[in-house]
Formats: sequence, C-alpha cells, structure tokens
Amino acid sequence: MTGYQGPERVLSGIQPSGGMHIGNYLGAIRKFVDLQHEYECYFCVVDMHAITVWQDPKKLREQTFHIAASYLAAGVDPKVAAIFHQSGVRAHAELAWIFNCVARLGWLERMTQFKDKAGKDKQRASVGLYTYPVLQAADILVYQATHVPVGEDQKQHLELSRDIAAKFNHDFNQPDFFPLPEPLIKGPGARIMSLRDGTAKMSKSDASANGCVFLTDDADAIAKKIKKAKSDPDPLPSEPAGLEGRPEAANLVGIFSAFSGRSDEEVLKEFGGQGFGVFKPALADLVVEKVGPISAELNRLENDPGYLQGILTDGAERASAVADPVVKRVKEIVGFLI
Ligand code: TYM
Repeated sequence: MTGYQGPERVLSGIQPSGGMHIGNYLGAIRKFVDLQHEYECYFCVVDMHAITVWQDPKKLREQTFHIAASYLAAGVDPKVAAIFHQSGVRAHAELAWIFNCVARLGWLERMTQFKDKAGKDKQRASVGLYTYPVLQAADILVYQATHVPVGEDQKQHLELSRDIAAKFNHDFNQPDFFPLPEPLIKGPGARIMSLRDGTAKMSKSDASANGCVFLTDDADAIAKKIKKAKSDPDPLPSEPAGLEGRPEAANLVGIFSAFSGRSDEEVLKEFGGQGFGVFKPALADLVVEKVGPISAELNRLENDPGYLQGILTDGAERASAVADPVVKRVKEIVGFLI
C-alpha cells in the first residue's frame, strides 16, 4: 500500500533495438496518443536498455531517431508530452543504482524475459540484461509515474516495479513517497503474435522479417506479408470460442479487431464462414489504410534528424526538471550527502 498523493503521471518507453512494428504500435504507442491529453506524459526511447545486448553505435543513433519519429508520426504531440532519450536524463541511471540495492536477487531470478533473452548460455549475458527490470523501475518511478501503458509482455516487469516501490517506501519509512504504478495493458492489441507463428510474440528481433509488419512497410510489403501469414485450412468461426486452438486465426482476427476498433465478436459476425482467401485481403486493406499515413509521416520525419534532435533535447530538459528533484529527495532519504 502507498499513500502517495502526488500528481498522476504516465511514463512509458520503447527500445531502439530494431524497427517499430504493429505490435509496438497497437500494444503501446496508440495508447500514448490517447493518454496524452488526460495525463502529464513522459515517453522515452530507452537507449540504455537497448545496450544490454550489443548495438552497433551508428545504428543505435539511427534507431533512436526512428523510435522518436514513430511516436510523433503516430500522433504524440511533443508540446503536450515530453519525448526524450533515456540517456539524456541522468536521473534514470542514478535511481537505478539505488534500486539495484533495494531489489532482491530472488526477484530478478524470476524474470522470464531475462531467461528468454539470455538463452542457453546465460553466463555470457551482460550484467545489464539481468538488472534490466531494475532500470525499468527507475524509468517509471523517477517521475513518480502512476500509470504505465504497455503490452502484455511487460506485466512481470511492472509487478517488479511495484515491489521495488513498496520495499523502498517500507525500508525507509516513507509510506507515501513512491506510488505503486498501475500497468495499462488491457484492450485489443496487447499481445500481437508473429505472422509466421501464432504462438510467438511479434518482436523487433524476429528472425523472419515476414513475421513482423513494420511501420515503415509500404502497401505492397504489408499485403505480401499478410498474404503469406500462416493460417489454417478451415473457414473462420462465427464466434470467438471457435478460435480456441487456432492461434494463427486468433491472431489475424485480433489484428483486425485492434485496427478496426471492433470486437472479435463483431469481426466474426461479418467474416464467420469465410476462408482466409477472403479475410486476408480485407485485413491487408485495413492495415494499409491505418499504417499508410503513419508510415508516410515517419519517412518524412526520419529525413529531418535535426528536428528530431531538437524534440529529444527539449524533452530531456523537461523530463530532467521533474526527475532531478525526485532523485535529490531519494538521496536525502537514503542518507547521501547532498
Ligand atoms: P519493447 O521495446 O520490447 O516494446 C515496446 C512496447 O511495445 C509493446 N509490445 C507489444 N505489444 C503487443 N504485442 C506485441 N507483439 C508487442 N511487442 C512489444 C511492449 O509491451 C512495450 O510496451 N522493457 C520495455 C521498455 C521499457 C519500458 C520502460 C516500458 C523500458 N523502460 C518503462 C515501460 C516503462 C521493452 O523492452 O519494450
């Protein structure tokens, strides 16, 4: 429990570790656009998280601009929300160290993302990859953020952030210092799966580019990927219960629902009984219609790195103005000399 009484704030971040795909868009960015007028919002490009696995420095810079441009192209207004690069606000790293001393080894050992990303040879994984969720907690709590829009895969990391906040408040007898951040996960699009495998998450690091629709894909590429998407020989059911045990069909219907703003029930009412020969072209048209304008704007913005740099620098200043006093207070609470 926490008696936090401060302002409600939203924080979220995306790693510049590859191209932005429709899973990131539907699971995260689209929510950012909706939330920006309701809350004070901080959206970062988490470059410090990205280097927990090797990143080519030149590519990292380009991808940092790419993620920032994607926020803007999707409709995040930089005058309303602060858009910045994580490494540009040093309070994140300072608080992360203190949180490394609050979080327990046993908590991190449970993190499934580390197990997935480290693979079989975890001795060769970076120490940063292991403490990655602690830095994520610092990203959130350095703004005393109360709400965190993310896709479903981030649920466990959000639980850890809450545990760290609660333990800090308890250990230092500051019951109302950190809020326990609420994940905002629900809604269609919280878990988009690969087009090549309905049981694997759509991911920036997907081995097959055909599994992923990127925001930079043109109409042709989108149509081809959806045409080639794995499906099954049966027609679509007329009710969602009929999608049980059909992960690829469920995923394609889910993508349709998420982009159209309709429920699975409604989509299946229209397409139930039809085969994928009818459904896939309709899905491709819808995705092209929704992604096309974002893609065009993204392309325009990526050709203007000077403008993007200005947005990130301004955002980092605004974010630091909120984060620095929080870290100063944390240092006092911990007993550091100020
Ligand atoms: P990342 O960069 O992997 O993903 C960014 C956001 O996109 C969501 N997402 C998806 N949603 C639906 N379906 C998918 N297939 C899919 N793939 C990704 C993710 O849930 C996320 O919301 N650890 C985070 C980055 C992070 C962060 C933070 C997030 C660092 N600090 C603080 C929130 C708050 C990550 O790796 O996201």
